[in-house]
Parts: sequence; structure tokens; C-alpha cells
Amino acid sequence: MHRFRGLLVSRHLFLAGVSSHTAAGAAASGPLAVFRRTLIVQTLPEPIKIERLSDQDSGIVELKLDRPEAKNAIGKEMLKGLQRSLEAIDRDSSANVVIVSSAVPKVFCAGADLKERRLMSPNEVELFVNSLRSTFSSIEALSIPTVAVVEGAALGGGLELVLSCDLRICGENATFSLPETGLAIIPGAGGTQRLPRIVGRSVAKELIFTGRRIDGTEAVSMGLVNHCVPAGEAYLKALQIARDINQKGPLALRMAKKSINLGMEVDMPSALEVEEECYEQLLNTKDRLEGLAAFAEKRKPRYSGR
Ligand code: COA
Repeated sequence: MHRFRGLLVSRHLFLAGVSSHTAAGAAASGPLAVFRRTLIVQTLPEPIKIERLSDQDSGIVELKLDRPEAKNAIGKEMLKGLQRSLEAIDRDSSANVVIVSSAVPKVFCAGADLKERRLMSPNEVELFVNSLRSTFSSIEALSIPTVAVVEGAALGGGLELVLSCDLRICGENATFSLPETGLAIIPGAGGTQRLPRIVGRSVAKELIFTGRRIDGTEAVSMGLVNHCVPAGEAYLKALQIARDINQKGPLALRMAKKSINLGMEVDMPSALEVEEECYEQLLNTKDRLEGLAAFAEKRKPRYSGR
């Protein structure tokens, strides 16, 4: 496995910018300042990590939340990390499927950073929530399939992040909740829209009005997650699914996702036109011919994404 070099470089540049302010008084342009910047960069943990799997699993990308001290709560820094990671994944034409998980044991994500929130003015809260909403929309809009892995709590914005993924896999010990009404706000990063589209409006209203926590078994019974497996096995299940997806035609995956996502938002005749347009994109591809040749020759296809 190896990380996206571009992401690490841009992260380092960003941090160097921040740290240069803190080191401003001390010989800002001298060698000491450069050394300090490097030191700070190396000691600051990354709240979001992305890794590309290699060899047989090349094409599978993992995005991991890693802010253990706050149970992966999403503050400004975490949000920036998420945005940068999504941009890097979007630019990577070799990526076929993304697994979104937590590097912190027993929690997926505790939602918005409530400690940071307390210090924000209403205007700052509005900007932050708008940014969180558009970031989750960017996850939904990624051209490739995304699979969320939940062990432990996925609360508030953590659940909204999960809802913006295409598939959801959880362990039996997972807990899901949108507790915002208990904090006298509403789920504001897509939760009031995506949850009813996934589980139906009646169930969504109950969950949002009461903020009730549900476990993995209940989540699978209401269609909130695709699979609920024994605690600790959600990642392996997600990897298995990602491997299946990774064998398929890369362009077909993109067009299937686009067709479903766009088609579900319009009336049936328009949706079928969307399907037609997406199919058309695949007609003159090498991969379509390769699929037919592999079938005729009774072998596994070797897709190139062209
Ligand atoms: N924002 C900021 N900090 C948070 C946080 C959040 N959303 N959720 C947890 N933390 C912090 C805690 O304050 C605590 O910090 P401390 O050590 O300085 O006190 C640390 O993370 C560990 O949390 P703790 O509650 O001790 O861990 P736990 O394993 O017992 O429980 C949760 C984990 C996620 C179930 C629990 O922290 C929780 O319910 N958090 C609130 C989630 C929430 O309401 N989110 C909705 C936002 S709209």
C-alpha cells in the first residue's frame, strides 16, 4: 500500500503555511524557520488518511477517519482533510471503488465537533454546515462507488457521511443516530434529505424527531445498511464487496452510478433517457469489446478503463 503523494505534498504545504505564521517572529525566512516548519509538519497527525491498495487490489482506495482524541468528530481541520482527500480521489483515474472507514476502534464518527461549535458565531456555524453539506454532496457525486464501513457509533454528521456513500456495511455493535433535534437543531449536512430517500419518510421522521439510537440489526432491517455482520467483521465484508466491484468494467461502474443517481431524481421517462445516454457512453469502448471477447474465449476480462 502507498499513499497519494500529491495529497501528502499539498497537506504539507498547507501546514507549512500555518506554521510559518507561528514561527513568524523567529527568522521567518532563515534556515531555522524552515526546520521548524518541517518539525511541525511531522508531528501534526493527519485526521484523514487515504491509501491505495496494490497488486490484485489495485483500484481500491481506502479513506480513513483518524482523529482518536475526539472520536473522529468533524471540525474545521477534519473537514479540510476530507475535502482534500476527495479531490485527490477524484483526480485519480486508476481508482475504481472507495472504502470509507474509521482508524479509531469502536467508533465511526461522533458527528460535528461540538466543542469547536460552541466557540462559533451563528454566521460561522452557517458557513461550516454549508461546507459540510457540500462536502458530503461531493462524496455522493464521486464518479466511482463508495462503501462505508461502520463499527461503533455513527452519530449526527457521522451518519450523514455514511448516508452520502453508495453502500453501507456495519458490525452488529454499530449504533446509528441523528441526535440533532436533541441539540435544538436539525441534521443539516444532507440528513433530512438522504435518510428519507434511503429508509422512507416515515421511518426517517421517527429517527430524526426522536434522535433514537439504533443498532446494526435494526439498521439492516430498515434498509439503512446493506449488510450487518458480526462485530469486527465489517471491514472484511466491505473489502470483499469492493473486490467484486473492482473486477468490473471501470467505465461501466461510473455510468451505472451516474445513471442511478441522476435517474432517481427525475420522472421515469427522463430517467430512461438518462440511462440511454449513459449506455451510449459505453458503446465505443475497448472494454465493451474486451468483455465480449472474454466471454467467447471463456476467460476473465482484462479491463483497461478505455
Ligand atoms: N465533538 C467533540 N468532541 C467529542 C464529540 C463531538 N461530537 N464526541 C465525543 N467527543 C470527545 C469527548 O468530549 C471526549 O473528550 P474528553 O476526553 O476531552 O472529555 C472524547 O471525545 C471521548 O468521548 P467519550 O464520550 O468519553 O467516549 P465514549 O467512547 O464513551 O463515547 C460517543 C463515544 C461518540 C458515543 C460519545 O462521545 C458521544 O455520544 N458523543 C456525542 C455525539 C453527538 O451527539 N454528536 C452529534 C453531533 S450533532
